[in-house]
Amino acid sequence: MAGSAFFMACAILVLFGFCVEAELVQHTFKVSNMMVRRYCKNKTITVVNGEYPGPTITAHEGDSLAIQVINESPYNISIHWHGIFQRMTPWADGPNYITQCPITPGNSYTYKFNVVGQEGTLWWHAHVSVLRATVYGALIILPRAGVVGYPFPNPHKEETILLGEWWKADVITLQNRALASGSAFNISDAYTINGHLGDLYRCSNKHTHKLEVEQGKSYLLRIINAALNTQFFFKIAGHRLTVVAADASYTSPFSTDTIAIAPGPTIDALLHADSHPSNYYISALTYASSPAIPFDKAASPYASAPPSASPFDNTTTVAVLSYKSSPPSSSPPIMPPLPAFNDTPTAHHFYSNLTALHPNSVPLQIDQRMFVAFGLGLTPCSVNQPLCRGNAISASMNNISFSFPTTVSMLEAHFRKIRGVYTKDFPNRPLVAFDFSNPSVNNQGSFQLTDKGTKVKKLKYNETVEVVLQNTAVLAAENHPLHLHGYNFYVVAQGFGNYNKKEARKNYNLVNPQERNTIAVPVGGWAVIRFRADNPGLWIMHCHLDGHLSLGLAMVFEVGNGPTPSTTVPPPPQDYPTC
Ligand code: C2O
Repeated sequence: MAGSAFFMACAILVLFGFCVEAELVQHTFKVSNMMVRRYCKNKTITVVNGEYPGPTITAHEGDSLAIQVINESPYNISIHWHGIFQRMTPWADGPNYITQCPITPGNSYTYKFNVVGQEGTLWWHAHVSVLRATVYGALIILPRAGVVGYPFPNPHKEETILLGEWWKADVITLQNRALASGSAFNISDAYTINGHLGDLYRCSNKHTHKLEVEQGKSYLLRIINAALNTQFFFKIAGHRLTVVAADASYTSPFSTDTIAIAPGPTIDALLHADSHPSNYYISALTYASSPAIPFDKAASPYASAPPSASPFDNTTTVAVLSYKSSPPSSSPPIMPPLPAFNDTPTAHHFYSNLTALHPNSVPLQIDQRMFVAFGLGLTPCSVNQPLCRGNAISASMNNISFSFPTTVSMLEAHFRKIRGVYTKDFPNRPLVAFDFSNPSVNNQGSFQLTDKGTKVKKLKYNETVEVVLQNTAVLAAENHPLHLHGYNFYVVAQGFGNYNKKEARKNYNLVNPQERNTIAVPVGGWAVIRFRADNPGLWIMHCHLDGHLSLGLAMVFEVGNGPTPSTTVPPPPQDYPTC
């Protein structure tokens, strides 16, 4: 059916000379450990095909992808194709224990999926433990060849910019330590642009990414925040940028000198090389959203967290933008003025002012309304945490701290109707309402304790959903980037403080809201998202700060099959990894 429809469309289009077959894009990803040199020291990291960052996958909208992942590393691995809808291929989504068991050392799994109805910049990354720190790369979907191009003037060239972090210590060791002690994951030692630390770090000036431009030409920058736990401000000295897409959805052109980007999202921006020929720094530094909050230890018997804002890595990474025509110069490149680390107004201006390029089909009638309060919390130390004293740091949604199953993936349990793996009682609202965004909630200790559970919210095929995401101030208010697998959603409103239905509704954008797969929910604030549950499967929604995912800041939607074979999840592939 799909084949013959394609043939007919093709037969018509070929008359005009632009029919291009959908292609099969094949890759082999060998995951292994490798030695790299940074800070004048050798360090072993886990990578794909000996590359750091990993290989870029380029496809056209409509193509099929088959990526064989061969695990030659000592760790369990799984790869997630961040932002890909995975329609009827939920088995290829990748999150560990949600849609698959990990690929154990020595084994392989081929991820097969189509890229239909989406184009732009996405990426892939490990979705198991903290391996995402170095196991990541770009996934670029170009417009269907020869049919329609970009909805903006064709750039002279395209450049991918992957932002990341660097730890001097081995990240798996750091993770094991954090898990054993029930504490937060260590902050990074440095940031990277395309794997390079850049000029400003000791011993690193040979490791600076370079971007050469020609005067008068424009360039499409595909910016991906691949960091585990860092939100970035991104700036280029002497240039403004025009944002044209976010999370592989086109936006109205948005001119800015500062981009704010949370871990997970992508931003496509046009750079016009129209400044005077010279060398300019491209820079990224953290947006540290967490304000210092008043905290009364005496009144808060459960708390073990410090009263101050969360610590952060306050370093800056740079790349160099140079004009081909610029005369050789001995002076350092020009540095842009940088925002303060806690410049929430600048971040919020960027995050909240993007709109879709065209009016879109945001659901207007809502079948399922949810209010989800989420943030940090505490949980009593468990037996697996020998170094933990009293309480461990935890994170939750509606006070349920998500625990991952260990014996079978949730998707397989769903498909084979295996009981006892998860329950279907994820609450539609918090069991106890409190003054969520008020920092004084910390002085009423009971709000800090979270329950554990593996719960899903069940949705019928094609139901429309509205979720109010309410950030809490428990332990620390912070901007959390919440990512939904399997879907894009519409961000109809966002703001600070507690969500107030009456006030918020006045400002809902139901015409051309930004379409995203990740929403950076304002610090101590809220966001409202809507989507249509037309993609059957099990889809995790979680904080894309990696440290918060392992603490339990996640929940899962179980979306039922539709009425037809083409809306029914097929059986898992032959080589599907089991636990
Ligand atoms: Cu990019 Cu579940 O993640």
